[in-house]
Amino acid sequence: MQNFDVFPKKSLLFAPMEGITDEPYRIALLKTFPEWDQFFTDFLRVPTVGKVNEKLIMDHYGPKIFANPHWRKKNSFQILTTPRAQTQAVVEVLESLKMDHLDLNLGCPSKKVNSHHGGAYLLSDHKGLAQVLKTIRSNFTGHFTVKMRVGYRDDNNFLETLKLIEDAGVEAITLHARTRDQLYKGFADWDYISKAVNSVSIPLIGNGDVWIVEDIEKIFEHTKCHSVMFGRSALKTPWLAKLYKEYIDKSAHIDETYLLFQRKNYLDEYFNALLSEYREFGWFENLILKRFKSFSRNLFDDYDNFETIRGNFLRSESLGEFFDHLGALK
Ligand SMILES: Cc1cc2nc3c(=O)[nH]c(=O)nc-3n(C[C@H](O)[C@H](O)[C@H](O)COP(=O)(O)O)c2cc1C
Repeated sequence: MQNFDVFPKKSLLFAPMEGITDEPYRIALLKTFPEWDQFFTDFLRVPTVGKVNEKLIMDHYGPKIFANPHWRKKNSFQILTTPRAQTQAVVEVLESLKMDHLDLNLGCPSKKVNSHHGGAYLLSDHKGLAQVLKTIRSNFTGHFTVKMRVGYRDDNNFLETLKLIEDAGVEAITLHARTRDQLYKGFADWDYISKAVNSVSIPLIGNGDVWIVEDIEKIFEHTKCHSVMFGRSALKTPWLAKLYKEYIDKSAHIDETYLLFQRKNYLDEYFNALLSEYREFGWFENLILKRFKSFSRNLFDDYDNFETIRGNFLRSESLGEFFDHLGALK
């Protein structure tokens, strides 16, 4: 097996997120907050019927990212599949494109996806899981990782699943420390990440409720994981990797007043970078505004009057109005 060198130890990974991490979003972030060590496409649902060709893969990955060697190195491809879907055909295209890194989604909790035996469902179907892993491993020579939860209904077969995955030649595992049935409830239990670190010999990437700089220190310390992945927290603080690296390098000051002051500046940079990228991709104003509103959900949680602020953004009727609210932030 090759050495796992997709990203170095203690990397900070921007999680795959459906409806968010498409090509223009990833380009905006690569340009604005390059401190993130790795990005992922959201999952490509491997079709059961219909054409599988290079266009399908390239549209999902992003041709501009593919054409730029530096960006390409920092962008991984994620698929979601089922034992009946055309996994081999998709993997063959990825292989022919010499894609460096393929990640398999074993965490998606969507009822629809699970009813077709995809995402987290495969954690409860070891026969189907073994088949999918074998198909991928035997057709793909790049790096192959999985992103999983602790289990489907419960954690009963957690260690067995880890072993099956490791034995199938998977090179690293990202663990969102919840079962599928827990969805996003409560807090992720990082003890599962420690358990996984102790039970497999491949790198473990911790994921789940790592919200602030101090949490990053804590999860590394508590679990000894190789790297950390950020989902909702990366949406709340898209510059979190930058904050952490400044904190590590210079013991930068991270008091709350300063963080809010920085938030205002970084939000301006974030939305301007996104606006310019979406325009470059030919998106219409109403689509951009819809996206911006969906990004607004958690960005203002740290302000005292966050409900009013968020309400203003969500009621904006134009991008001009949205940016006026941004300008009015203190
Ligand atoms: C809007 C949204 C979309 C997501 N889409 C994906 C996806 O396409 N693939 C995936 O593996 N996980 C997906 N996830 C899960 C996240 O990658 C991550 O595992 C989860 O949010 C837990 O991390 P967090 O506590 O940092 O949010 C998604 C999460 C959110 C909130």
